[in-house]
Amino acid sequence: MEDHDIYAAVGEDGFRRLIAAFYRQVPTDPILGPMYPADDLAGAEQRLRDFLVGRFGGPPRYIEQRGHPRLRMRHMPFAVGPAARDRWLQLMHRALDEAALRPDADALLREFFDGVATMLMNQPG
Ligand code: HEM
Repeated sequence: MEDHDIYAAVGEDGFRRLIAAFYRQVPTDPILGPMYPADDLAGAEQRLRDFLVGRFGGPPRYIEQRGHPRLRMRHMPFAVGPAARDRWLQLMHRALDEAALRPDADALLREFFDGVATMLMNQPG
């Protein structure tokens, strides 16, 4: 399996369940909760889901609506140090456990999230 096969393998529903499981944990998280827009969590959920769907072979909704992802630039307003990175990954790993996607897709997604989360760090420890 390659990255662009993941959408066909897990479907819109797989991404919906994964990202819903991630955002369900965000509001009560002491590190991440305050960083996310409390009045637009549904919008944040949709942005991350649409980005991932497009990145992994599904419809390019994110690029149509938001343009080039420029993820490092878009995360500059938030202080992303090692603690925020580790917590984000912890919540995403839990969401992956809960969503129980096919093991090959699950493994590729974990590798992708780990790499991007580290790339997005913009603060020292
Ligand atoms: C490293 C820890 C991370 C932190 C603390 C973090 C935090 C945030 C916050 C606070 C937002 C704004 C929510 C919104 O209104 O959309 C955001 C947006 C976003 N994040 Fe992250 N994020 C992290 C990692 C990641 C990773 C690993 C990815 C991709 C796999 C990602 C993809 C996105 C996307 C696509 C958006 C929406 C950007 C936009 O269109 O405005 N983030 N992130």
